[in-house]
Amino acid sequence: MGRLAKMQEDANREYYTRKGGRIYSDFITYANSDGKIAECNAIEFCKKFGKKKNKRVLEIGVGNGNFAAEFLKKANAVAPGMKIDYTLADISEKMLFAAEKRLQKGGFAAKTIHSDATKVEFAHSSFDYVRLQELLTDLPSSIFVLCEGRVFEVAYGKDGGASGLCFVDEKTSAFVEPVLSRLGENYFVPFNFAACELVVKLYDAIAPGGYVDIFDYGFANADDLLPYDMWNQSIVREYGGQLTVDLNIPLLLSFAKSAGFEADVQLQKEYVERVLGEKVMGVQKKNGLHYMTKKELGKEGGKKENLLDNYEEDDGFYHVRLAKKGL
Ligand SMILES: C[S@@+](CC[C@H](N)C(=O)[O-])C[C@H]1O[C@@H](n2cnc3c(N)ncnc32)[C@H](O)[C@@H]1O
Repeated sequence: MGRLAKMQEDANREYYTRKGGRIYSDFITYANSDGKIAECNAIEFCKKFGKKKNKRVLEIGVGNGNFAAEFLKKANAVAPGMKIDYTLADISEKMLFAAEKRLQKGGFAAKTIHSDATKVEFAHSSFDYVRLQELLTDLPSSIFVLCEGRVFEVAYGKDGGASGLCFVDEKTSAFVEPVLSRLGENYFVPFNFAACELVVKLYDAIAPGGYVDIFDYGFANADDLLPYDMWNQSIVREYGGQLTVDLNIPLLLSFAKSAGFEADVQLQKEYVERVLGEKVMGVQKKNGLHYMTKKELGKEGGKKENLLDNYEEDDGFYHVRLAKKGL
């Protein structure tokens, strides 16, 4: 049993460094999805920056490079011959190698930054667009709970199960207590502090008029949280050795706004539908979750074994857009 943030930091560094791009069979999410989110990102990017001279994109937490390759492919389809200066950043050298290889296969190239995103300093105003998909849930977080009027940090075991309560210092208690009090006793509430600090740091790295897109799972309001003996025990998830913590989006937005960003949140699915101008459905296939249009679903109907399940409208995946005002 131990402090979750430290356990998460150690477990995830070890997990990603060891596994590289071979992570996707350990969890079922929209990471590695078949390109709808990348397509939407490329459409919006080309619309906003198509005519800009030096366009710079940073992706942090790149996985097997599937997104980067799909994004560049789609951007090229929207605006043929468009040049994009693309940077891949990741804690895992193996992951960067896999992503670079995938890009090369598609005829693309990228710069790389091999570093822990929480430690690296990005150059001032260096990117127009920054993208983080299912990275922030990996970064060190803490879970706090109000018990008999007092704030405690929840300790966890390696399997991701809550295993006890720890005392917290006065400063931390004063910060988290107002949030916990609003919910009431016995709610386990994640505070993804490293994710919040990363977002604050990105404000400086983004050029005026640029923006950050975050795609991740978590909760967008207090109604999504339930008392500890119900759903919210599972906000810490163990996937084949990695530990993730659901994203506290209201907390993230408050840090982002205090840094100067204009911030907006919507369901990830609604984002895809808005950009495509078409209804989509979240579908679980053998290799993860994907968005499909009605037409595509119809085509796949014959191959029923691919469609393992259909997802709810609100599946807990969100899109957060952080925009920096232009000059
Ligand atoms: C769940 S995977 C998502 C990968 C990819 N974004 C996708 O959607 O397929 C998380 C990614 O973040 C990277 N990562 C995890 N912790 C990191 C950290 N502290 N700094 C930089 N990268 C990190 C992992 O190596 C991995 O590539």
